[in-house]
Amino acid sequence: MDNFVFHNPVKILFGKGQIASIGKEIPKGSRVLFAFGGGSIKANGVHAQVVAALNTAGLAFVEFAGIEPNPRFETLMTAVDLARAEKLDFILAVGGGSVVDGCKFIAAAISYDGDCWDIPARRARINTTIPMGAVLTLPATGSEMNAFSVISREATGEKLGWGHPGVMPRFSVLDPETTFSLPARQVGNGIVDAFVHVLEQYLTFPANAPLQDRLAESVLSTLVEIAPQAMEIPADYQARANLMWCATMALNGLIGQGVPQDWTTHMIGHELTALTGIDHARTLAAVWPGVVAVKREAKRDKLAQYAARVWGLNDGTEDSRIDRAIAATRAFFQSVGVPSGLAGYDITAEMAAKVPQRLSERGGLPLGEKGDIDAATVQHILDAA
Ligand code: NZQ
Ligand code: ZN
Repeated sequence: MDNFVFHNPVKILFGKGQIASIGKEIPKGSRVLFAFGGGSIKANGVHAQVVAALNTAGLAFVEFAGIEPNPRFETLMTAVDLARAEKLDFILAVGGGSVVDGCKFIAAAISYDGDCWDIPARRARINTTIPMGAVLTLPATGSEMNAFSVISREATGEKLGWGHPGVMPRFSVLDPETTFSLPARQVGNGIVDAFVHVLEQYLTFPANAPLQDRLAESVLSTLVEIAPQAMEIPADYQARANLMWCATMALNGLIGQGVPQDWTTHMIGHELTALTGIDHARTLAAVWPGVVAVKREAKRDKLAQYAARVWGLNDGTEDSRIDRAIAATRAFFQSVGVPSGLAGYDITAEMAAKVPQRLSERGGLPLGEKGDIDAATVQHILDAA
């Protein structure tokens, strides 16, 4: 196991009714930017609950609506202008990963002196951030309990990840009831995103970290167990509660401490979303089979462990167990409505061919737990996918 420093200060308020408590978590006298997406929170009553909580606490707030999926720099800069003009000093993100990620950017950009695109594009030095909190309505990204954010720029067709400890939410409300209104497509996306987050921190090579392995396997097994109910019965509180906690645990840092990680599927996926607009999780299901096909030998030990412990595959040759585990994973994605493999999507070979070039132009290569995935290997992965 490698050395690590782990510090996750995000306070989680989990369970039904917790939105009512947010007033206690925001410092008195704060002027709040209440930011959200395209309107789902108005339809499902979450907006009204947030307004009631802010009013009860006597907090002044200004609303900003319209943070879109794959939040755009252009939209977020209008929120930054608003926050600067209104002298807002606390940000409340209410929505899915896109709203939370967008608010992290706003939190860093408000007092940034310079071109704010440098924050994701050049990992600009950030000296001051505005504190933020979140009310999560879509279990998927883990953004509610981590320091990462992914921002897109319409003008250049880019989608870039960045992070800073100062933008970790001070608190995040995880109320499973807020997810009852999710369309099935978003529930399936969330399950796949969380599952692949775990795989990218787990399917590498053995690192003498049996606890991290078993934590990862427990999140994967729990997702497999609860997915049918979470998909079929929107108001199944227990299934949604377990899904929500799995998605948070998948990317709050805990399972990945001290172990090798491989974010190849995500990095290629972000390029595909930037090029085609395909939902984040769907790009992961599209690309992942290519990664395990091309890096099968490097990942062999962990693939065999995954087959045995997550899918209970103990008979037959090692190769057949690995084949069946990969097939089971793909069938699992399919079972939640997310096609696996590039063929399931409208992605031309021409489009896919732009991915290695874009990654390499930006200095995003090499990828992989051993740093051996270059532009040619990215192309092999896309061909295999
Ligand atoms: O905009 P509204 O009207 O709210 O509708 C949203 C949106 O259309 C809707 N939705 C959210 N909660 C709902 C709801 N509809 C009904 N009921 C509810 N309770 O769902 C749609 C998708 O929302 P979005 O926030 O885009 O989805 P998700 O949470 O999957 O976030 C995806 C974004 O997060 C990034 C992705 O790249 C993508 O930009 N990621 C962030 C990560 C991080 N910060 O750690 C890691 C991830 O790997 C990922 O890259
Ligand atoms: Zn993801």
